[in-house]
Amino acid sequence: MTWWGTGTIGDEGPAGWTVRGIADPVALRLPDGAELDVRTATADDLRGVDELHEQCSMRSRNRRYHGGASRIAPARLRRLLEPARGVTLLATVTCSRQSARPVVAMANLLGEGDTAEAALLVRDDWQRRGLGSALLHRLVRHAGQTGYVALALHVQAENTPMLRTIRRLDRPSMVDRDGSLLTLTMPLTAAVSPVGAGRPEGFSVAAS
Ligand SMILES: CC(C)(COP(=O)(O)OP(=O)(O)OC[C@H]1O[C@@H](n2cnc3c(N)ncnc32)[C@H](O)[C@@H]1OP(=O)(O)O)[C@@H](O)C(=O)NCCC(=O)NCCS
Repeated sequence: MTWWGTGTIGDEGPAGWTVRGIADPVALRLPDGAELDVRTATADDLRGVDELHEQCSMRSRNRRYHGGASRIAPARLRRLLEPARGVTLLATVTCSRQSARPVVAMANLLGEGDTAEAALLVRDDWQRRGLGSALLHRLVRHAGQTGYVALALHVQAENTPMLRTIRRLDRPSMVDRDGSLLTLTMPLTAAVSPVGAGRPEGFSVAAS
């Protein structure tokens, strides 16, 4: 296990990100000026979330679900929308000609014992605009506020975008590797001493 963590986002989150209660819809302005709403998902969002998955590339779905993701079963999506423990956030486009605002990203926090597991999916044409960072920051904050002691993220070792998104949190993480899958565990409560801080051996985040 290795400690890892460097980054650029401070405690207040990315510019334009208003932190309130997790259930409140919040307006989010991305650095490029695009405006989104972020809110808690409900069962009524099944169609919007299904469309989000359809509009994502196979690579994005595979990175999110670690393979076998040509189509996510509606029953699984339903469970993700209203998890027994945890929360799912959706980002929707504020200005849209469609009657239902398209869902362009989903962020999941699933509670398992005293650890919460986080995962993200940002629609391909909305990637690299700061949205993933903003959503992850909010999940981390919520997990800490609701008493989880750690946040876990399962990430394929080749998934540079997600590793960079995590690195931007600037929080030390323990990294376990099982083949091509990394599990990063981020303590949320007591301050940690990043013994062996730096990137894990044999592990690097590529510059683009
Ligand atoms: C990973 C993901 C959530 C990142 O979301 P995003 O909105 O693109 O992230 P941001 O715009 O906030 O960028 C965060 C960091 O990732 C980097 N990044 C984003 N896309 C990248 C790409 N295609 N190549 C290289 N770096 C990339 C950004 O440059 C930034 O790093 P930096 O600050 O060091 O420059 C998004 O790419 C995604 O949904 N991927 C498919 C699903 C997935 O991989 N989920 C993770 C499983 S838990």
